[in-house]
Amino acid sequence: MSKNETYYEHQPVLLEESVEYLITDPGGIYIDATLGGGGHSLALLSQLNNDAQLIGLDQDDEALAAANSRIGNDPRFSTIKGNFGYLSRLLPPELHGRLSGVLLDLGVSTHQISEAERGFTFQKEGPLDMRMGNLRGITAYQVVNEYSYEDLRDVIYHYGEERLSREIAREIISRRPIETTIGLRDAVEAVVYGKHQIKSVARVFQGIRIEVNRELDMLREVLDQSLALLQTGGRIVAISYHSLEDRIVKKFFKSGNHEGKIEKDFYGNPLTPIEEISGGIIRPTEDEIKQNPAARSAKMRVAEKIELPEA
Ligand SMILES: C[S@@+](CC[C@H](N)C(=O)[O-])C[C@H]1O[C@@H](n2cnc3c(N)ncnc32)[C@H](O)[C@@H]1O
Repeated sequence: MSKNETYYEHQPVLLEESVEYLITDPGGIYIDATLGGGGHSLALLSQLNNDAQLIGLDQDDEALAAANSRIGNDPRFSTIKGNFGYLSRLLPPELHGRLSGVLLDLGVSTHQISEAERGFTFQKEGPLDMRMGNLRGITAYQVVNEYSYEDLRDVIYHYGEERLSREIAREIISRRPIETTIGLRDAVEAVVYGKHQIKSVARVFQGIRIEVNRELDMLREVLDQSLALLQTGGRIVAISYHSLEDRIVKKFFKSGNHEGKIEKDFYGNPLTPIEEISGGIIRPTEDEIKQNPAARSAKMRVAEKIELPEA
């Protein structure tokens, strides 16, 4: 199987629901900010008309190559390589304020996880890398082998949401240098016992991956910038896979900022430039989870940009 084909193994999550919520104008301009293997983009294109424009963005060269070869030559579709945290700078200025929708299907793709040499998986031996793109950024090796005890503990506690962060950080430090994913897994398994062992390993890997890719900072950035780039009535569809991401999305959709503070005018009317229209979280059906277990933790929220009354 070619590299591109392994990308197509990624089954798009909440596909019908996300496409239905995202498209408000079949001739509009849309951004798939997490293109991956192009599963969502392909479905979007099938619902858009000839006037539409869809830009797929990913920071991973392999994802871009796979999506381009899967979607082929479609005049409505183009791609940009980059981190969605810099979305406004990556998009041509003439599109600013004209977008009908931005799709965020966060996290890593099945393909990225299945490639041992990318270092995302604890199931196979690989180098401690975990970078999704930006090959100049820090790697998991640096977090594991060079962070101070306090910083490592905090990454594991805050981003991994792992209670035994102190014990695990101490164990990792006592085993330095740790060279591979299996070495990191062994360190976690030396301090966590019983049936929760594998969950703790997954949480430590998640925490380090979030740190390496600055995932939460980038999510806050892309939410801010998407809101600014949308036209009134345009939508953001965000699919997240862990509670830290969902908390950020929820707060932003409620208030339009990251403090969750609802600004009010002189008369006390809320001045919120965004409204959550999904009525909270939308989850995959039991059937979808049965067919695609990777969908089980997915949470989708949808918000619309609203026009504020004239001052
Ligand atoms: C879950 S996959 C998307 C799968 C895609 N929706 C599909 O159906 O094939 C997430 C993708 O987003 C990309 N990604 C994650 N964070 C990113 C960021 N900050 N900037 C750009 N791309 C990012 C990853 O490289 C990965 O390819």
